[in-house]
Formats: sequence, C-alpha cells, structure tokens
Amino acid sequence: MDDVKWQAVEDYIAGNLIEEDAALSQALKASAAAGLPDIAVSATQGKLLQLLAQTLGAQKILEIGTLGGYSSIWLARGLVPGGRLITLEVDPAHADVARRNLDRAGLGDRVEVRLGPALETLPGLVEAGPFDLIFIDADKQSNADYFKWAVRLSRPGSLIIVDNVVRGGKVADASSSEPMVLGTRRLFAALASDQSVEATALQTVGPKGYDGFVVARVKVP
Ligand SMILES: C[S@@+](CC[C@H](N)C(=O)[O-])C[C@H]1O[C@@H](n2cnc3c(N)ncnc32)[C@H](O)[C@@H]1O
Repeated sequence: MDDVKWQAVEDYIAGNLIEEDAALSQALKASAAAGLPDIAVSATQGKLLQLLAQTLGAQKILEIGTLGGYSSIWLARGLVPGGRLITLEVDPAHADVARRNLDRAGLGDRVEVRLGPALETLPGLVEAGPFDLIFIDADKQSNADYFKWAVRLSRPGSLIIVDNVVRGGKVADASSSEPMVLGTRRLFAALASDQSVEATALQTVGPKGYDGFVVARVKVP
C-alpha cells in the first residue's frame, strides 16, 4: 500500500517538475537492454543533483559509481560551461554503456569515465581536484573510505553526497551484520568524527523504496 502511494506521489512530482528528456530515458532503456541492474537514482533525485551542482556553480564534479551514466547525465548538466565530471566505475560493461549514453546525451566531451576499483583510481585524482561536488554511489561497504577520499579531494565549501544510507531503516539496527549496513554505519561514524565537515541525512521514499542520502559540506574556516 505504501509503495503504491509513494509511486503515485513520485509520478505526481515528476509529472509536474521533471523534464526527463530523450537522452535520460534512452540512457535508462539502453542500460536495461544491456542487462544493467535497475539501481540508478530516481528522476527526482537526479534533478536534485543537477540543482545542487548548479547552485554551487560546479566546475569539477566527481562521481563514484557510474552504472549506465544516468546520474552522470544529471550531474554533468549542472556543470558551468567548461566544467568537467569524472565518474569512477569498476565494471567495464557498465562503463561502456555509460560512455555511449553520455555521448548520446551530448556530454561525452565533458565527462570522463575512469575504469577500475575506485579505491585504486581515487589516489590518481589529486591533481584533477579539488572537486566542488562529490557524489558517492558505489559499493556501500567502502563508503567510509570513499568519504575520506572525498574530503581529501575537496575544498572548503564542497558538497559530498552519499546515496542509499538508510537501507530500509536497517541503518539504525546496531545488531545488523549485513555488510552494506555495517559499511553505512562506518560512514556515519566517519562523518561524526570528522571535524572538517558538517552533515545531515534525509530519509526518502519512492520508486526505490525506503532509503535516504547524506549531504555533507566541507567547512569554510
Ligand atoms: C548504484 S550503482 C550507480 C548508479 C549511478 N550512480 C546512477 O544513479 O545512475 C553502483 C555502481 O558502482 C559500481 N561499483 C561497485 N563497486 C565499485 C568499486 N569498487 N569501484 C568503482 N565502482 C564500483 C557498480 O559496478 C555500479 O555500476
């Protein structure tokens, strides 16, 4: 029942406020046709990412976890002219689909898909940074490490967003032994102990069920 209501409200919001054009819908279709899992951000979340990038006047965005490039398209559309997005992906098949989707969206010139396990490609990004916005959406077990890298690759005022941190409410279960829940709880511990950021997390419902995301801002001294 809740799911039906959440979907109806999502459709209502999207119907009024989200212009999901051919490039975005084709990206989802091509991803599904290539057998990629249906785990991209929702259109409403994607639009939020674009709005945040625009608000920051983002010149450099880093994404960890590309999949078929759906969130990359939203983020890249929030870049200022001449801005660049680097997105990290471990799976070569996902990276190929993403590159094609980004080219089709006319964004191939400003988005680079870097292949490899993110913990191995992140150290090579020090020169490319600092990034104005970092979106973390890969393997949840590594979220605390990704967050620490995000802080290292940011500047005062940068935003760090981490997706899927509520996990159907399981994040509050201290007895959980699920690796993704443990990884998310390690992320919250890292956020809480890092004096260089201030952060909050919001719970969400919608087509992806009950979940949520962290928004952290690197403090400006
Ligand atoms: C939730 S999906 C990303 C969804 C995408 N951000 C979107 O909303 O369109 C997670 C992606 O992270 C990738 N991934 C998993 N582990 C990774 C790792 N260690 N390094 C880089 N990417 C990884 C997966 O292959 C998958 O494509």
